[in-house]
Amino acid sequence: MGACLSHRIKSVSPSAAVNSRSASRNGNNLSCSSGKESLASIPQTPRSEGEILQSSNLKNFTFSELRTATRNFRPDSVLGEGGFGSVFKGWIDEQSLKPTKPGTGIIIAAKRLNQEGFQGHKEWLAEINYLGQLHHPNLVKLIGYCLEDEHRLLVYEFMVRGSMENHLFRRGSRVPPLPWGIRMKVALGAAKGLAFLHNAKTQVIYRDFKTANILLDSNYNAKLSDFGLARDGPTGDRSHVSTRVMGTYGYAAPEYLATGHLTAKSDIYSFGVVLLEMLSGRKAIDNNRPSGEQSLVDWAKPYLTSKRRIFRVIDTRLQGQYSLNRAQEVANLALQCLAVEPKCRPSMDEVVTTLVKLQEPGEMPKRNQKHRGNAHNHSNGKPTTYPKPSASPLHV
Ligand SMILES: Nc1ncnc2c1ncn2[C@@H]1O[C@H](COP(=O)(O)OP(=O)(O)O)[C@@H](O)[C@H]1O
Ligand SMILES: [Mg+2]
Repeated sequence: MGACLSHRIKSVSPSAAVNSRSASRNGNNLSCSSGKESLASIPQTPRSEGEILQSSNLKNFTFSELRTATRNFRPDSVLGEGGFGSVFKGWIDEQSLKPTKPGTGIIIAAKRLNQEGFQGHKEWLAEINYLGQLHHPNLVKLIGYCLEDEHRLLVYEFMVRGSMENHLFRRGSRVPPLPWGIRMKVALGAAKGLAFLHNAKTQVIYRDFKTANILLDSNYNAKLSDFGLARDGPTGDRSHVSTRVMGTYGYAAPEYLATGHLTAKSDIYSFGVVLLEMLSGRKAIDNNRPSGEQSLVDWAKPYLTSKRRIFRVIDTRLQGQYSLNRAQEVANLALQCLAVEPKCRPSMDEVVTTLVKLQEPGEMPKRNQKHRGNAHNHSNGKPTTYPKPSASPLHV
């Protein structure tokens, strides 16, 4: 919305979508995850809507239940919004999942389809298809859905700290910048979520990786939400999946924008953009900046290769929280993910391995150590919302 809405434009050349779920990949096992995940094997043929809704262990809410749970979708309970619609805070009973009084039971986040948007039933069903089957500590939990007349809603566990986007970019004299340590923790959590998807028995390409789709719990554990654009990866001998070009400007990989050919490497490019946003505190696309600085990747890339000039990119509010070596290693990782040639980008497993090593802040001058940020000393206010770019068809 706002300035960034100028980036929402219709696709000019939608191509036939390939949605094959045939032969499974020989995916590597995820070595860095906590083991709580289920590597669900997604059935090997495209499933009908009925099959998707029946097979998932999700609650089928009535519209009236969700209206009650969210107190009639009160505008002051909006948690955020994106290309699909607005997300409302609500309350349900933990056992029966029936609506309860505010302040009792458990908190939910109910995402309601905006009938006038670019997204619709297909994206709604995609979320149920994937989140109904894939479970991992770094993926948000889907509790249920609502399908009634024209209404399409999704009900998730509530993520108390909201999106990474809000934490990274909100400004104000009383808002402390997100510390280096937390940024690295979130980067690792999100990377584990993506690695899990890429390694699933039938590979899943997330396709809309961005800070707005990374949600945070009270301990800054990152969980990927918003699976509306997710797709099965290529199977058999195929190198890519052909799609209508969908996503968010500033995050989409150049070869995907140019051809519509989607691979897991497209997600890795988007991961590089997010890492750069975390390093710099700048948005992927910012129309309020001078012309040469509006595209974060174009502006930052030349600085990332130089030891001396790297400080031009790093968020000045992070001074004293990281060592030069660490900053270089993170910048180098971002640079690899942003390689123009997809083959030169690392795999998500490699990204996870590197980020695990980068969790410690590294050696730094003693006088700076008291300013170090970590996940425990960051006092946080309520998440705020602000204009954001959202997923939509993109021009080729
Ligand atoms: N489970 C949740 N808990 C808290 N906030 C949420 C939750 N889900 C979404 N939000 C907020 O709503 C925003 C939009 O949600 P998202 O699922 O990305 O919607 P869309 O599909 O429209 O992009 C997020 O960026 C976040 O700020
Ligand atoms: Mg979103």
